[in-house]
Amino acid sequence: MARIPLISGNWKMNLNHFEAIQLIQKLSYELRNHDYDAVEVSVHPPYTDLRSVQTVIDADRMRFQLGAQNCHSEVSGAFTGEISPAMLAKLNVDYVIVGHSERRALFGENDAVVAAKAAAVFGCEMTPIVCVGETLEERESDQAESVVETQVRGSLASISGDKLDELVIAYEPVWAIGTGMTASAQDAQEMCSHIRKVVASIRATSRNLVRIQYGGSVKPSNVTELMAMSDIDGALVGGASLEAESFARIVNFKDA
Ligand code: 13P
Repeated sequence: MARIPLISGNWKMNLNHFEAIQLIQKLSYELRNHDYDAVEVSVHPPYTDLRSVQTVIDADRMRFQLGAQNCHSEVSGAFTGEISPAMLAKLNVDYVIVGHSERRALFGENDAVVAAKAAAVFGCEMTPIVCVGETLEERESDQAESVVETQVRGSLASISGDKLDELVIAYEPVWAIGTGMTASAQDAQEMCSHIRKVVASIRATSRNLVRIQYGGSVKPSNVTELMAMSDIDGALVGGASLEAESFARIVNFKDA
């Protein structure tokens, strides 16, 4: 069964809800039905924009999947300032990014936290996009594969059975995020192939089902080469997803 590519726009802490509505409308204008037939497209606005973006998607029957950037691992409780996965599910969120390297580095999330979040997202009938990736120092000291393997095993530890088949993993080398430096398509392919083998060692039948995105300075000029790689099933896009035209050109990479 062919894996349907997933192109995701992670807006990070950008755009208020008015700006978010403008972007989703512009993006919808740039894309055609055949684009959505070829790839799934998810947008991940900040929490405060989700309801507005959801309303526009529903009202105009846009074919975007709605995504979030993070959530808590508990469904409710005394966690001041946190957002529950159940609240996201109620907003028709389909995909939730968990364990983004910015969460890991700036907010102290470790693999155990990421594992709990990933399981909680599945528990609320959504799909986690679990992020992994090595730092430049780790790559230069030849530790990239082992670091990423440890992250994959640790972050998937609470996902059981056939849920693993539905999972999305994003390989985002930390040194490529927001720097303009992209991993070469060959390096990205090698790591995504390694990740697929790790997943297969956890559950053999998931090998060909789990989708693996590449993220880190994905642009219209490099997406085609990356997407041509056999183990890369999509892109997690930061900066270039904030501009409708560039994100649309990434989504329809096949037309490039
Ligand atoms: P950039 O595309 O801006 O490098 O960000 C990548 C990223 O972190 C997506 O989650």
